[in-house]
Amino acid sequence: MLAATTRAADESVTDAALDPKAMREPLPNAWYCVGQAPTLKAGGMRPVELNSEQIVVGRDGAGALFAMRDRCPHRGMALSKGRFDGDTVMCPFHGWRFGTDGRCRDVPTLSEKDASDFSRIAVQRFPIVESAGFLWVNPHLGPAGATDLPAVPELGFEAAGSLVVELEVEASFDLTTLSLVDPGHVAFVHDSWWFRPSKELREKVKTFQPVPHGFVMSSHATTTSSPIYKLLGGAPEVEIEFRLPGIRLERIVAGEKRMANYTFATPLTNNRTMLTNALYWSMPLLNLLKPLARPLMRQFLTQDQQVLQHAQAGLDRKPTMVLLGQGDLPSQWYFRLKREALEAARAGRSFENPLSRQELRWRS
Ligand code: FES
Ligand SMILES: [Fe+2]
Repeated sequence: MLAATTRAADESVTDAALDPKAMREPLPNAWYCVGQAPTLKAGGMRPVELNSEQIVVGRDGAGALFAMRDRCPHRGMALSKGRFDGDTVMCPFHGWRFGTDGRCRDVPTLSEKDASDFSRIAVQRFPIVESAGFLWVNPHLGPAGATDLPAVPELGFEAAGSLVVELEVEASFDLTTLSLVDPGHVAFVHDSWWFRPSKELREKVKTFQPVPHGFVMSSHATTTSSPIYKLLGGAPEVEIEFRLPGIRLERIVAGEKRMANYTFATPLTNNRTMLTNALYWSMPLLNLLKPLARPLMRQFLTQDQQVLQHAQAGLDRKPTMVLLGQGDLPSQWYFRLKREALEAARAGRSFENPLSRQELRWRS
C-alpha cells in the first residue's frame, strides 16, 4: 500500500490533523467508473467490484439503473448469480426476492401460517448514474457530509464512434492515479513509434489553472509530433483536465472536429485498480481505423500497467516517495486536492480548490 508520506523537495506538504489512513485510501464519497453503459441492457444485471465492495448493477425493464450490495442478507449469497426478471432479483440459494429498491419482496419458503416479517429486510443500495457511455457508482455509506462531489465526466459533442480499453493494474489507486498527472514518465514508458516518434527530451512550459475539484492544462497550436494529432489536420487545441477522484479528460478540438481521450482509475481493492481508457471522435471516417487503434491503445495502457506494478512492489517494501521539481507538482496537487476533499467532508463544508494558476517547466 502506498502511504501518503510523500516528501516534497521544493514545496512543503503539511500532514496535519487528518487521519493518515484516510489519505491512503481512495476518496470514499465520489463517483467511480464501473464499466460500460451500453452493454448493460434493460432487464440485465452484472457484478462489479468497487473499493473492496461487491456490487450488483442492473437496469430494470423500464431502463432505470440500480446498484446494490451483491450479497443476500439471508446467507451472503451473491445476488448477481441469481435471476433478474426486470423487476425483482431472485437469490439462487433459497429464492428470496428483492426489488431494485433493495427491499425484500418475497420469502417463498415461509409457510402461510408463519408470521415472520420480511418487509424490513433490505439490501444496501448505492447511487448510480450513466454518463459519457459509462456507469458511475458512488460507494459511500453513511452521512453525505459536504455534498459538492466532483462531477461525473460528460462528453461535450456527438461521438461518431468510440473505442474503450480496460486494463486491471496490481497497484494502489493513488499510484495508478498519479500516472494520469505525471508528465515525466511519458518519454520513458510510452516510447512507441506511433505515440512518441522522437526520443529526445524537450523543454516544456505549460500553464495550469484550477477547475472545480482539479486542474487543467491548455495549449493552443500544440507542438507535439504525435501522429494522433496529425489525424486531425491543422493545429489542434488540446486541453487536459484532471479531476478527483482519478479522472483525466483530454479534449482535442480542430475546427469542427472533436476528439476526446478520457482515462478513469477505479479502485477495485486496496492493491488492484482498473484503468479505463475511452477515445471518442466526431468524424465518421475514423471508425475505419478502430481495428487498428485498439491494439495500440491496449499497448499504451499495458506500458502503464507494467511499470506501475513494478513500482508498487518497491512501494510495498518502503511506502515513501520523493516528489521533485515542477514536473512532480501535479502529483503533489493530487494529494492536496484529495486532502481538501477529505477535510471539507469532515468539516461538512464545501470544497475549496487549494490550487492557483501556475506555469510549470519540465523536460519530456
Ligand atoms: S442466501 Fe439468499 S435466499 Fe438464502
Ligand atoms: Fe502513462
